Amino acid sequence: MQKFIQKLPKIELHLHIEGTLEPELMFELAKRNQVEIPYSTPEEVKNAYQFTDLQSFLDIYYQGANVLLHEQDFFDLTWAYLQHCHEENVIHTEIFFDPQTHTSRGIPFKTVIQGISRALEQARTELGISSQLIMCFLRHLSEEDAIETFNQALPYKTLIAGVGLDSSEQGHPPEKFSKVFAMARNEGLLTVAHAGEEGPAENIITAINDLGVSRVDHGVRCVEDKKLVRQLAETRMPLTVCPLSNIKLCVFENMQQHNITDLLKKGLCVTINSDDPAYFGGYMNANFMAVAGAHELNKNELAQFTLNAIEASFITEEEKDAMTKLVLDYLATAH
Ligand code: ADE
Ligand code: ZN
Repeated sequence: MQKFIQKLPKIELHLHIEGTLEPELMFELAKRNQVEIPYSTPEEVKNAYQFTDLQSFLDIYYQGANVLLHEQDFFDLTWAYLQHCHEENVIHTEIFFDPQTHTSRGIPFKTVIQGISRALEQARTELGISSQLIMCFLRHLSEEDAIETFNQALPYKTLIAGVGLDSSEQGHPPEKFSKVFAMARNEGLLTVAHAGEEGPAENIITAINDLGVSRVDHGVRCVEDKKLVRQLAETRMPLTVCPLSNIKLCVFENMQQHNITDLLKKGLCVTINSDDPAYFGGYMNANFMAVAGAHELNKNELAQFTLNAIEASFITEEEKDAMTKLVLDYLATAH
């Protein structure tokens, strides 16, 4: 299956660019920018990545982002991720970024978005990888702060496909951000939100009803509400599932217990994604391999994760048709 997965064209829909900061690049940037970090080797950084829940990860993750100061740093970060995409046959990616993690440290919004966008543009021409950018609001901060960030983003609206919601889910339900999401929809932006990762199934319902999301990030706790599971299957509301992330953050005890295959077989539009690959032990292929290693899945079912991702993506119908053909042609030769 490894060879089949490697060559399978893949689409990533849940990827935090700050979560692709590998320890080696963290060290390089710390040195280049003369930023102190509380580790002496990249090995020591890797050993610190033992998480008990989402918050224990976020504390270390936000600290790691402190080495990102200049436009070139954001370019280098994004370009390194796109190299992984290229090596792993990821043909399209929809990337999250968290402007507040940077603007709160005095980094201009423009520095962040221009560095990331320049790398995406270069990947389009040099690597043939297409992409979209989704700006996330940090849900542990206030809605006023999110609105201020949204206003800073407006001059760059053409570079952004949608807005999302991430960070600590417990105690910060989707409805806290109803107003800023309505503002985003009024500007013609699409919306997504992390919901039902650590928080209850109820958060998935409010993300859909109050925030008007086009897909739900994670959403794995939907199984706690049978009616919701039926509704997600009937409406084909996509869930961007992140298998290795869920194990690292103890959402499931092990991969055998993960519900992604069960949800696939129930007809939900579930997809496989890497979330924060530098922190959770792997990029797209590693996530596919982890699921394929723990669950009974044939080639058609594995390819269905990509077909679902194409259906759930923010690209045009023509682009969707072309990518679907690529996957079906690959499947025909791989049998
Ligand atoms: N930010 C980065 N990764 C995240 C995750 N898995 N959940 C919530 N916020 C995040
Ligand atoms: Zn995430």
